[in-house]
Amino acid sequence: MSEAHIDHLRSIVGTANVLVGQDAQAYATDYRQVFVGSTLGVARPATTLEVSAIMRYCDRHGIPVVPQGGNTSLLGGSVPDATGSALILSLARLNRVRGVDPLNATMVVEAGVTLSQARAVAEDAGSLFPLRIGSEGTCQIGGNLSTNAGGTAVLRYGNMRDLVLGLEVVLANGDVWDGLRALRKDNAGYDLKHLFIGSEGTLGIITAAVLKLFPKPRATCAAFLGVHSPAAALSLFGSLREWLGNDITAFELISSDAMDLVLRHLDNRPSPLARRHAWHVLVEVSSTGDQSEVEAGFHATLATGIEEGWIEDAAIAATEAHAGQFWRIREEISDAQTRARGSVRCDISVPLSAIPGFIASTTEKVLQTAPGTRMIIYGHMGDGNVHFNPLRPEEADATDYLAEFGPAITRIVDDAAMALGGSISAEHGVGVAKRDELLTVRSRVELETAWRIKSALDPRQLLNPGKVLPALSRH
Ligand code: FAD
Ligand code: LAC
Ligand code: ZN
Repeated sequence: MSEAHIDHLRSIVGTANVLVGQDAQAYATDYRQVFVGSTLGVARPATTLEVSAIMRYCDRHGIPVVPQGGNTSLLGGSVPDATGSALILSLARLNRVRGVDPLNATMVVEAGVTLSQARAVAEDAGSLFPLRIGSEGTCQIGGNLSTNAGGTAVLRYGNMRDLVLGLEVVLANGDVWDGLRALRKDNAGYDLKHLFIGSEGTLGIITAAVLKLFPKPRATCAAFLGVHSPAAALSLFGSLREWLGNDITAFELISSDAMDLVLRHLDNRPSPLARRHAWHVLVEVSSTGDQSEVEAGFHATLATGIEEGWIEDAAIAATEAHAGQFWRIREEISDAQTRARGSVRCDISVPLSAIPGFIASTTEKVLQTAPGTRMIIYGHMGDGNVHFNPLRPEEADATDYLAEFGPAITRIVDDAAMALGGSISAEHGVGVAKRDELLTVRSRVELETAWRIKSALDPRQLLNPGKVLPALSRH
């Protein structure tokens, strides 16, 4: 970056908060070290006004900007390309809690507050902020909003989009939109916040948000189950929903290969169940009602599941810490996979009823294409969302496996999801990795409309260039 640019950015955020050289390069690689880019520098503003001044300067000088939160997203959206022409705008220092209003059940936090901090602030106020994902200690509210994060409590509380009432956003030209309205009803014109949520930093920089708070559940039950098939898991889910309704908070499916991998990753931790099962379910119910009543309903439904033959074995959490051990197993699968190297990450959704058929036929096709592949299949079954991540055979080289089979496996999985009316990206977004696939799954009308919105909000295409939107041919 030219000295003049550096000097100017330093005059905005202070000398210590503009990084260049090696210090800056550390920000140009994602958390999993899969996407490696290059940057001309990193600016670390601490206020919305500083973000605004940076954007105004970059707009005037044509400097591309890549917003970055916790850098935990999985598809390369948070790092620049290899040209080294973009500035990384780290939101980490914009991390104040601006206020909590327990009666209105809202809190206003800045973009750089980590998800676990936001949850702790809600907890201190006697409330719950319910977004729950494995990366919560590192990912930030701005990143959660920009990816419309999902996670393991969507069944009960919805995606990030459902947990927000208002936003503050700095636009590409530096203008600040103060949309921090804490209203549950507000139909006065277009609801602009939804444009920015899920846009992965391509339309504006989110600097703060009004988040919804919920009553803290007084009763929680969790169980780790062995089941013989996804079809059995689906029947169990139907029964739980019938009897426990919205109290079902999480319903997570785990294949045996995923279970083997994660237990090994956790220093050969024993399974919560006595023997190996083809499939597992981690189910959680929670309620503001009485613990003994919730437990009675939960246990009765599990007993039905055992009688019906859907459940082969069950470990019921006796304490919160015990439930925490179940969740640790579930949440470490992603990191176990990263460490194992050589998995093809697909994040699909299909109508819930189609999940068993999808898993059976897609597994068969993947194994025909790449024999010996380990089927790391897990995720948010209750949402119709499965992380379908075939992993190289133990003895295969990761790079060779991905080069030989990666594209074919992605096609098999994503085509199968699309054929069932599903999505090729249920919760992880598009970033750079899924960008060009949009050409095959979105209509020209939809993509042209998206580009028109992009052009209106970011006419010089400086905000996270090359992400989310595929280039369209002229015809
Ligand atoms: P980043 O990775 O820094 O950025 C994500 C995108 O948002 C980028 O395009 C970036 O440019 C943009 N961005 C970041 N901050 C801003 C801002 N303030 N304004 C505008 N644009 C911005 N995701 C799920 O949905 N569900 C899961 O269950 C889940 N589990 C995970 C488990 C692990 C172990 C890991 C590593 C990741 C997981 N993820 C999951 C993915 C990831 O954590 C989420 O996408 C998270 O929301 C990203 O937040 P972040 O702060 O790290 O964002
Ligand atoms: C999970 C991430 C990978 O569910 O979405 O663990
Ligand atoms: Zn997930």
